[in-house]
Amino acid sequence: MTTLATTVTEVLRYRGKIGQWSWVLHRLAGLGTLLFLVIHVIDTSWVTFFPELYEEAIRIYQTPLFTIGEFALVACVVYHAFNGLRIAIIDYRPEWWRHQARAAQIVFLATIVVLVPVFILMAQHVIEFYTGRPVDLQLGLVFSRVVVPFGGGMILALLAGVILSGLFGAVSGRTGLAGPLLTQRSRLEQVLWGFMRVSGMLLLPLAFGHLAIMHVIEGVFSINQGGTGLAASFVAARWAYLGWRIYDAALLALALIHGFNGLRIIFNDYAHHPIVRRGLTWAVIVGCAALIIIGTLALINGVPGM
Ligand code: HEM
Ligand code: HEM
Repeated sequence: MTTLATTVTEVLRYRGKIGQWSWVLHRLAGLGTLLFLVIHVIDTSWVTFFPELYEEAIRIYQTPLFTIGEFALVACVVYHAFNGLRIAIIDYRPEWWRHQARAAQIVFLATIVVLVPVFILMAQHVIEFYTGRPVDLQLGLVFSRVVVPFGGGMILALLAGVILSGLFGAVSGRTGLAGPLLTQRSRLEQVLWGFMRVSGMLLLPLAFGHLAIMHVIEGVFSINQGGTGLAASFVAARWAYLGWRIYDAALLALALIHGFNGLRIIFNDYAHHPIVRRGLTWAVIVGCAALIIIGTLALINGVPGM
């Protein structure tokens, strides 16, 4: 039976086996990207619903800790995308499985080849912003406005799922799936398995395009012109084009469903109690649906007054 502890100890024991490291890194990179995306969809919706909060959110994106996180995020997306491509290709052509160790090495190499120039261009934006400006960590702001509300909110959402599942189990006497429901479930699992591969392929150009605009072409500091302008104007200018709204809508739906289904797979690996597993699955479904609704409402309503 897989537990979080066995995953950690086995990974350390199998030190040096590239397939094991690729699996762990793929999982961590996917989780890291999803963690950011949850915060990002909520704060992007503020441009519509709470414009002053949106300006603050972009200022927080420009603090040093977030700048470090921004480099890590780009590395996560690039590695996860290339490794996901490797997984999908080898699943499609199982006879290539014998080349998987070489393919994993190529993924690491391709990630480095892409990241080196991208990091240089991103670093130029950072240097430009900090020239003549003091480096202020603003740890209190990051902690009180991001770590506590978002971290706390996510933990509460998961706990609420588990508690509700426990109450449902106590009232209905049902703990897990049985009979025909199990067959339906395994058919759904097959569909979702295929969806992870197809959505990954579609996300590759969408996520890379979005990151290229936000980190390389424009840079996070340009969103509010280095603090001298309104971040909302940047978003309004992009959402003035229907094409960008459709682009963002596709990215929103695909990244959230792909990421949350990935999270569900991970929970299923480690949560063995049927009530806990059901509660976490509910939290994943409700969380994903809520974020798609919030993000879509923002895209439909646009930036007020602009
Ligand atoms: C620090 C990194 C990032 C920055 C600064 C950033 C910036 C932005 C901005 C300014 C918008 C507003 C709309 C627009 O201009 O298109 C936006 C929307 C969006 N971004 Fe990002 N982005 C980042 C990373 C990501 C990543 C990694 C993903 C997905 C994997 C992502 C997915 C989205 C989605 C789905 C929307 C639309 C949200 C909605 O409908 O409410 N972003 N982003
Ligand atoms: C950019 C293109 C992407 C590609 C090509 C891709 C590909 C894949 C593939 C093929 C899998 C299934 C792995 C397996 O079954 O072993 C997967 C899993 C996963 N993906 Fe992605 N993905 C992409 C973007 C994203 C994004 C934007 C997120 C976060 C919102 C994400 C989060 C996850 C998570 C959490 C998993 C589960 C990992 C696990 O089971 O260990 N992925 N990805």
